[in-house]
Amino acid sequence: MAPVVRMVGVQRRQGERENHALRPQRLGDVIGQQRVRENLRILVEAAQGRGEAVDHILFYGPPGLGKTSLAHVVANEMNCNIRITAGPSVERAGDLAAILTHMRENDILFIDEVHRLGRAIEEVLYPAMEEYALDIVIGKGPAAKNVRLNLPRFTVIGATTRLSLLASPLRDRFGASFRLDYYDLEAIRHIIARAARMQDIHIEPGGREEIAGRARGTPRVALRLLLRVRDFAQVRAEGVITADVAVDALGLMEVDALGLDDVDRRILSAIINKYDGGPVGLETIAASISEDSSTIMDVYEPYLLQLGFLERTPRGRVATQGAMRHLGVEQSRQGQDLQERLPGV
Ligand SMILES: Nc1ncnc2c1ncn2[C@@H]1O[C@H](COP(=O)(O)OP(=O)(O)OP(=O)(O)O)[C@@H](O)[C@H]1O
Ligand SMILES: [Mg+2]
Repeated sequence: MAPVVRMVGVQRRQGERENHALRPQRLGDVIGQQRVRENLRILVEAAQGRGEAVDHILFYGPPGLGKTSLAHVVANEMNCNIRITAGPSVERAGDLAAILTHMRENDILFIDEVHRLGRAIEEVLYPAMEEYALDIVIGKGPAAKNVRLNLPRFTVIGATTRLSLLASPLRDRFGASFRLDYYDLEAIRHIIARAARMQDIHIEPGGREEIAGRARGTPRVALRLLLRVRDFAQVRAEGVITADVAVDALGLMEVDALGLDDVDRRILSAIINKYDGGPVGLETIAASISEDSSTIMDVYEPYLLQLGFLERTPRGRVATQGAMRHLGVEQSRQGQDLQERLPGV
């Protein structure tokens, strides 16, 4: 019987629909993240060997690296049903209780953005994860009674981009937790090649290289760029993604040689030009470029930190020499030959 996927009150994020078909289905389809893959293989095989539900798993790391995909992969490998929800969509403890009472033996409950569960809801989750029990109060006032319901053995898979916001009792209840890191170039190349094959996209090695180099080590970005460059190739270049076509398309999308986009550059140039290179607080940066501070922190900063373009200090964010050089080079390149890559990149 095919596993059943149920969405419990969550909306897909924009752009996620087209990527859905490209999701790896089994551990064997997962490219890169070798350490995580091997550990998951062991978890799954051990649980299967014992005929039990797999232990609770936490995936954390920057957006677009495959947390949701891996949750589905585990469900497919375990051949079990997966229910999907997200921290912000579980508004009341009763919502979670309703989800939990519908779980069946070995089912997986995937909780995206698990750091955004409310405190009262976490309190319901603790005994559910630890003792497979649901404590509910029946009635009101002096007549109220505590009742404990037993739940089947099930698995919680949590995903978060902000491990530090996860309450530590909750963090401790995940038997296995995995940090997903940015992918190396080789893995990103593979991911692009696989997606191109699956979508019948004609791409030359040079085109693939251009896209891979600007994908920020992030599968979601790689796939998004691939699909947009495909559109460009279709409309402007007879459908074939050559290196030149990719460079032109990416230039039009304002994605630079390191994969920085307009927002990344605005963040860096605000720090450098308005605040003398920093330190400057996150909220101030956010206000000065009209972006949401948590989006900056979750989506943009991790990669800028990874590139060494930004530093977090107790007094605020500081732009590094590398960032200044990069922006300087980008500026002097404007209007010049876009095919020329940055030296040393
Ligand atoms: N290891 C991988 N191999 C192939 N494709 C991958 C891999 N990891 C992720 N992808 C692709 O990248 C896209 C983004 O992955 P996913 O949605 O799982 O990321 P996420 O970590 O859950 O992101 P977010 O934090 O934003 O929820 C998916 O559409 C999937 O197809
Ligand atoms: Mg996700």
